[in-house]
Amino acid sequence: MLFGLEDTYGRVREIGIMKTVLVIGASRGIGKYLVDSLMPDYLVGTCSRRAVEVETDNFLSMRCDVRSPDDVGGFAQTVLQKFGHIDVMIYNAGLMLFDDLINARQTNLDEMYKVMVKGYLFACQAVIPMMSRVGGGHIINISSTRGLTAAPGKCAYSAMKRAATSITDSVRIENKQRGIKTTSLHLGMVYTESSREMYGEEWYSLFPIAQSDVFEAVKFVMSRSQHAHIDSMVIGGML
Ligand SMILES: NC(=O)c1ccc[n+]([C@@H]2O[C@H](COP(=O)([O-])OP(=O)(O)OC[C@H]3O[C@@H](n4cnc5c(N)ncnc54)[C@H](OP(=O)(O)O)[C@@H]3O)[C@@H](O)[C@H]2O)c1
Repeated sequence: MLFGLEDTYGRVREIGIMKTVLVIGASRGIGKYLVDSLMPDYLVGTCSRRAVEVETDNFLSMRCDVRSPDDVGGFAQTVLQKFGHIDVMIYNAGLMLFDDLINARQTNLDEMYKVMVKGYLFACQAVIPMMSRVGGGHIINISSTRGLTAAPGKCAYSAMKRAATSITDSVRIENKQRGIKTTSLHLGMVYTESSREMYGEEWYSLFPIAQSDVFEAVKFVMSRSQHAHIDSMVIGGML
C-alpha cells in the first residue's frame, strides 16, 4: 500500500510503503491494545486462538495456535500474501501460570514452554526469511521484569521469559547481516484483565503501568533509524 514520507514515529505517508506489523497473541490485554493503537498508521496482521476472523484493506485477524508451527507459519504466509511484506513482529502470546518451585505443576510448565518458548521460536523461524527478503525487519518480544530477576512463586514463568530473551539475543546475533533487529521489552506489572484477575484488590498496591505505556515504548523502539538497535528496554512500576 503506497502512502508517504516517514514521520518521527517511523510511519510512512503519501509516498512509500506503509509498514506491516504482526501482533501475535492479541485477543485481549496488551496485544489487543497494541493492535487497536497501531491500526490507524500501520498494516496490521494479528492472530490468537480466540481471534475473531476479520479482513479489511489494512487489517487481517486470524485464528492460530502458536503451539503449532504450521499455524504460525500459515498465519505469517497469509499476511505476507495480503500486504506483500512483513516489517515488524511483536510476540506477545504468553501465559501467566504462577507456581512456586516446589509445587510447580508439570501441565503449567509444559503449556508455558509451548507458548512462550517454542511458539516464539516457530514465529521467528517463519518471519525471518520473509523480513530478510525485503532487507530486514524488527522482532519485538513482550517480556517481563521477571525475565530479568526472580520473584517468589514465579520460578517457571521467569525461566520461560529468560529463555525467550535468550532466543531474542540469538536471533539478533545470527541475523545481523540480514538486517534483523530485536528488542526485549521487559514489563513490570501492567493493568490488564489478566493481572487484575490474578491479584484482585491487591493489584493497585503493585503499581501497575498502563497499556498505553507499552504502546508508547513499542512505537519508540520501532521508529529508530535503521542502524539504531534498542536490544532491551525495562519499563516497571514503582517496585
Ligand atoms: N499483564 C502483566 O502484568 C504483564 C507483565 C509483564 C509481561 N506481561 C506479558 O505480556 C504478554 C501479554 O500479557 P496480558 O496480560 O495481556 O495477557 P493475556 O490478557 O492473558 O493475553 C495473552 C494473549 O496471548 C494469547 N495466547 C495465549 N496462548 C496462545 C496460543 N497458544 N496461541 C496463540 N495465542 C495465544 C491469548 O490469546 P488466546 O487465548 O485467544 O489464544 C491472549 O491474546 C504476556 O506475554 C505476558 O507474559 C504481562
